[in-house]
Amino acid sequence: MGGSIKNRTRFVQEIIKRVKEYTGGDIAVGMRLMGDERFEGGNTPEVVSQIASILDGQVDWITADQGYSPHQEDWQAVPMYVESGYNLRITNPIKAVLKKTKVGVVGKYTDPGYAESLIANGQADLVAMTRALIADPELPNKARAGMSAEIRPCIGALQDCWGRMIRGLPISCTVNLAVGREEAWGNQTLTPATTKKSVFVIGAGVAGLETARIAALRGHKVRIYEKSKQAGGQAMIAGRLPGRGNLKAIVNWLVDQVKALGVDIKYGLDVTDDQEVVDFVLSEEKPDVVIIATGSTPIKNGFQPYTFNEIEGWDQPNVCTDEDIWQGRIELGSKILIADTLSFIEAPALAEHLMTRGKTVEVVTPFENIALELNLMNHWEHLMPRLVGVKITPFTWIKKIERNVVTLYDFHEKQTKMVRDVDDTVLITGRIQNDSLYRVFKEKIVEVYLAGDANVAGARIGFAMYDGQRIGRLV
Ligand SMILES: Cc1cc2nc3c(=O)[nH]c(=O)nc-3n(C[C@H](O)[C@H](O)[C@H](O)COP(=O)(O)OP(=O)(O)OC[C@H]3O[C@@H](n4cnc5c(N)ncnc54)[C@H](O)[C@@H]3O)c2cc1C
Ligand SMILES: Cc1cc2nc3c(=O)[nH]c(=O)nc-3n(C[C@H](O)[C@H](O)[C@H](O)COP(=O)(O)O)c2cc1C
Ligand code: SF4
Repeated sequence: MGGSIKNRTRFVQEIIKRVKEYTGGDIAVGMRLMGDERFEGGNTPEVVSQIASILDGQVDWITADQGYSPHQEDWQAVPMYVESGYNLRITNPIKAVLKKTKVGVVGKYTDPGYAESLIANGQADLVAMTRALIADPELPNKARAGMSAEIRPCIGALQDCWGRMIRGLPISCTVNLAVGREEAWGNQTLTPATTKKSVFVIGAGVAGLETARIAALRGHKVRIYEKSKQAGGQAMIAGRLPGRGNLKAIVNWLVDQVKALGVDIKYGLDVTDDQEVVDFVLSEEKPDVVIIATGSTPIKNGFQPYTFNEIEGWDQPNVCTDEDIWQGRIELGSKILIADTLSFIEAPALAEHLMTRGKTVEVVTPFENIALELNLMNHWEHLMPRLVGVKITPFTWIKKIERNVVTLYDFHEKQTKMVRDVDDTVLITGRIQNDSLYRVFKEKIVEVYLAGDANVAGARIGFAMYDGQRIGRLV
């Protein structure tokens, strides 16, 4: 069975033969080849095209990708950093040798126009889509009907599909909350509201927009007040992080959807908990239902659930949060220390952003590394090379900040150490709900809901979308 390519394909040919006998020619039988094992001596695109030519005509179609399980999964379903088309270097040689078996390309294809062009130019006989169809199973129908703009976009973050699967949970989707909840939230489950209400949403982040979309689909009259000049809230900041522009796509889709449903978004209107403001809003909008989707605010004092303490010296002018930097509220010096307990994208993305602007950056974390959660979402192979030059200090936390001198504590060595000449210290330790409006509106209106980060701070886009869908169906 082993040794030469001919011998190595014997076992798979026997499997194909048995599968064909079993299926009796009634259905198409295809297979996935692993086109690049990405280590010395492993399969390469050239070797795999020879394997494919031996299998030509025995299966109906072949698709090919790269990366074996479990060590190279970062190349199986890639995050947003990788462009679609990255597997063509593997399928092009296969396509060149196959005469009977059809060749499918796979890997981050989300745009039906691009998919069509690959078939038209002969690079593929079919284009396979996994996540694009999880995010929107209606994609082929919408593309066929010339409604590609309606397709709900996969944002490529792998949080709720792969990220859940790898934890042993049923998969869902950050942008398509019906996935894994088909019986309750799938096709034909959205019922028109029995009483049409006036629904007033405060905040046009993803939670507010999704609530508005579902409520409007059910026939309610919906308006949104947003204090800034654009929709999307934190998701728009998240989409400005290096390499993560895909995240903005879901905001754009939601905005287009709610506009098409006649939802009025008024920008530049800050609903404060001042009684006069609340009374004015109530008299102006006369809502039956109020949705508080006002998001969350970063914790400024470095409090986190590891030392259960704020950081001494957090209130000095050269200490800030990542959001202060993304919102352009701070002029930074050249040596920056980032203290992170979230172990998600905030710290590495900021470190990359600052490093590429010539800053010297060190990230301290109480864990063994940064971005631990993202390792479950196939990010490391793509994210870590972007951080070459950033100093990562594990098992460490800040004891105190005295202007430009930061005292660190190493949990393993049980030692303190001083870092001098630090121009700015950035604290990334969590967020708190902006929920103060709930109480004031609840005094006046029976139906008031908190949605998204205003309900559970720091719970991310998937939760904000979930909460929006849940409340939109409830009102
Ligand atoms: C740097 C960064 C990176 C992130 N990366 C990711 C990621 O990769 N994946 C992920 O899933 N999540 C990520 N997140 C988190 C995610 O973006 C949020 O959890 C999610 O967008 C929260 O949505 P939301 O609608 O509940 O709140 P928000 O996005 O905070 O929206 C609240 C909206 O309400 C408006 N508003 C607030 N108060 C008022 C008021 N009084 N009157 C009128 N309007 C008001 C705000 O202007 C804002 O537009 C990231 C967050 C940050 C900051
Ligand atoms: C949740 C999930 C589970 C997957 N399971 C498998 C699998 O069992 N076998 C496999 O060959 N590929 C698997 N894949 C990889 C896909 O087949 C596909 O190659 C990959 O997701 C890239 O295509 P996409 O960008 O269209 O999602 C899985 C992908 C996802 C998102
Ligand atoms: S969870 Fe994210 S990556 Fe997975 S299908 Fe949904 S949007 Fe795409």
